Amino acid sequence: MSEKFISPVSRIRGELHLPGDKSISHRAAILGMLAEGQTRIYHFLTADDCLNTANACRELGAKVDVKGDELNITGCGWVGLRAPGNVIDCGNSGTGVRLLAGVLAGQNFESIITGDEQVQRRPMRRIIDPLIAMGAAITSEPGGLCPLRIRGGNLTCLNYLSPVASAQVKSCLLLAGLFAKGRTLVTEPSSSRDHTERLMRYFGIPVQQEGLTVSVEGGAIPQGREITVPADISSAAFFMVAASMLPGSELRMFNVGVNRTRTGVLEVLRVMEAEIVEDNLRTQAGEPVADLAVRFRSRMKGAQIRGRKLIPRLIDELPILAVAAAAADGETVIAEASELRVKETDRISILVNELKNIGVAIEERPDGMIIQGGKIKGGKADSHGDHRLAMSLAIAGLASEEGVTLANPNCVRTSYPNFWEQLQEVTR
Ligand code: S3P
Repeated sequence: MSEKFISPVSRIRGELHLPGDKSISHRAAILGMLAEGQTRIYHFLTADDCLNTANACRELGAKVDVKGDELNITGCGWVGLRAPGNVIDCGNSGTGVRLLAGVLAGQNFESIITGDEQVQRRPMRRIIDPLIAMGAAITSEPGGLCPLRIRGGNLTCLNYLSPVASAQVKSCLLLAGLFAKGRTLVTEPSSSRDHTERLMRYFGIPVQQEGLTVSVEGGAIPQGREITVPADISSAAFFMVAASMLPGSELRMFNVGVNRTRTGVLEVLRVMEAEIVEDNLRTQAGEPVADLAVRFRSRMKGAQIRGRKLIPRLIDELPILAVAAAAADGETVIAEASELRVKETDRISILVNELKNIGVAIEERPDGMIIQGGKIKGGKADSHGDHRLAMSLAIAGLASEEGVTLANPNCVRTSYPNFWEQLQEVTR
């Protein structure tokens, strides 16, 4: 089993060009596969998750070339997908499975889609039920788990009230909706990330939005495009927190996606009294991007992180926010976040245990956790193969008294392949 020791450092400094956004990279590849003509994706995230989606696109008949972080894809033009010769394996990516399942549900052939052990434990009922309601035939393992066997085609549209604010569910149904007769509507309890809607529009598909309802008309064909993927704010979050915790830190990060459905982390860190400045705000392929400057100001303060509107806007950043809370003054409450239990791992129970192991005063709650800020002692911790937990525990190590020995550090390649190199760059 591999291990990494993360030593305490006094501060971080430097400038970072972070890898591309994971959510947008998946969507760009999938729309490129469905498009008429050529799609060129610059700054594609060449991490395992998105490379698995690119492979799935290949398997379904698109021509896909990856050169560095540029992905060129010759689309199948919506009706040109072919039955895969193999099981489609999305690896660790729940996004890959759920979005591609939407596309497969629209196809007149049978396919099987799955992922690794973590993905095989994640709930798929949330997409299986509405896709069946649209007319797809889907079988799964007991409990609605992967692998999913999908025979699609002849879909009819759906007016779906989603019980969860999930961009994966919404995107799955919008993609299936492209292949359905009529207009498919999805209404969420609160807004989840809207990259699919933005990218569909950028690819020429009219997507409508009215309040919490988005809709798409069946039969619209995406047109190949050139797109530059913004840097991933979820990856930036690790360094935002590091710089906000360590006195004397100063860091700049460029071209970071600041879509308001993703910036909950900025708002919470500012409430905690971190200093993060966004400048050079502009739009790139329908997405807002900015450069971020983070400077240590003073010890952060605990915060209340809860609410139906906020939680979906920072769901992936809760582990690193828990680390920020551990080094802050006072109490932090994370609540109404039970979705965290069905991510790559149960991120409530594992995070609480691992932070306890390195000396953090933290208590588990059914829908979150309560953290008493103070010092992070350090010691041994395990990522359990969850990329965001690995990176969060590494940042905890930087701010700890004795350092952290992290088991299973290599899973960062799921979303941030050069994390360890960039960490070394700014701590040097
Ligand atoms: C994602 C949506 C979120 C997020 C995941 C990526 C996406 O999941 O946690 O990492 O790209 O659509 P849910 O939409 O299921 O909450």
